[in-house]
Amino acid sequence: QDDRLIDTFGRVATDLRVSLTDRCNLRCTYCMPAEGLDWLPGPDLLTGAELSRLIGIAVHRLGVREVRFTGGEPLLRKDLAEVLAATAALEPRPSTSLTTNGIGLARRAAELRAAGLDRINVSLDTLRPDRFAAITRRDRLADVLAGMAAARDAGLTPVKVNSVLLRGVNENEAPELLRYCLDQGYQLRFIEQMPLDAQHGWRRSDMVTAQEILALLGKEFELTPMSERRGAAPAERWLVDGGPATVGVIASVTRPFCAACDRTRLTADGALRTCLFATTETDLRGPMRAGADDEELAELWRIAMWGKAKGHGINDDGFTQPDRPMSAIGG
Ligand code: GTP
Ligand code: 5AD
Ligand code: SF4
Repeated sequence: QDDRLIDTFGRVATDLRVSLTDRCNLRCTYCMPAEGLDWLPGPDLLTGAELSRLIGIAVHRLGVREVRFTGGEPLLRKDLAEVLAATAALEPRPSTSLTTNGIGLARRAAELRAAGLDRINVSLDTLRPDRFAAITRRDRLADVLAGMAAARDAGLTPVKVNSVLLRGVNENEAPELLRYCLDQGYQLRFIEQMPLDAQHGWRRSDMVTAQEILALLGKEFELTPMSERRGAAPAERWLVDGGPATVGVIASVTRPFCAACDRTRLTADGALRTCLFATTETDLRGPMRAGADDEELAELWRIAMWGKAKGHGINDDGFTQPDRPMSAIGG
């Protein structure tokens, strides 16, 4: 008998992504409206103890080896360090990572490292303060840059930087972003925009494609495809000017990596999602609060993963965006 998280296409999920909150302190235009969203009510959120229990089940009974914390903005979670410490104390110890917008990171990087965080990914779409304020609707660029540097200095490495290019907004900044990240020692990845915004306003024609990104970078850098095995990594990488520097592209839409997907997701209110784009969820919070034991919860998780779809379907006719937006799934 195999106790792991296997689906009907033979994929095995070993990477758990945990959304710690659906709230965010930025308001990126491609993510949510200026007024924010109807946040989950406090009692619906998993407590730190509930999170630690479910992560423990994933590691001990289901073969999960990597745990990534996301949001919304995970640094808004007051008990982040405790949840990290509980995760890092598991045997076998999973690797731990965090995806953040970087606000407030400068103050907390060392504490997170000490609590058991291995590495960090920070979102940064522009280096121009006015443009940052236009995209995120908050004037916080300096905080983010300071946060990234603090993460690097605290050893939360490699520091990876995620940039979403928006047509007519920041696409011309791609080479500058790359130069900055290379100077600072960060691994930059450009991301194709996916249909997951709360406003349901994504249009294919607005998406800057991987092909366009490579052309934009190609004007100023010499890019050589890397021969590394990509496995389940979303990013494809290129050597920059002969290396060792690299740049990545996460081409979720035009070059989907669904066939190698190794992910399972837990939302802040305790729902399992088999995919970013899943249209159904499995509630674990209800059974857990009703007294289910660890093996019962593990079995619900296995059954849910058995229903994982082959792919996201963005390129298929009749694609429908999931109800839950990116900010409440965790990317
Ligand atoms: P690393 O292991 O550090 O490379 O992490 P990552 O790239 O998987 O994670 P991160 O949270 O930094 O996400 C970067 C981008 O990849 C975001 O836009 C995510 O939404 C996207 N992403 C993460 N997981 C998936 C996935 O399963 N499917 C798709 N289509 N996109 C994903
Ligand atoms: N498509 C792709 N990436 C997105 N992000 C937010 N919304 C989208 C989207 N619709 C990015 C954030 C962050 C990462 C976790 O996901 O900018 O870098
Ligand atoms: Fe916040 Fe990330 Fe959405 Fe921006 S993209 S508003 S940082 S959750």
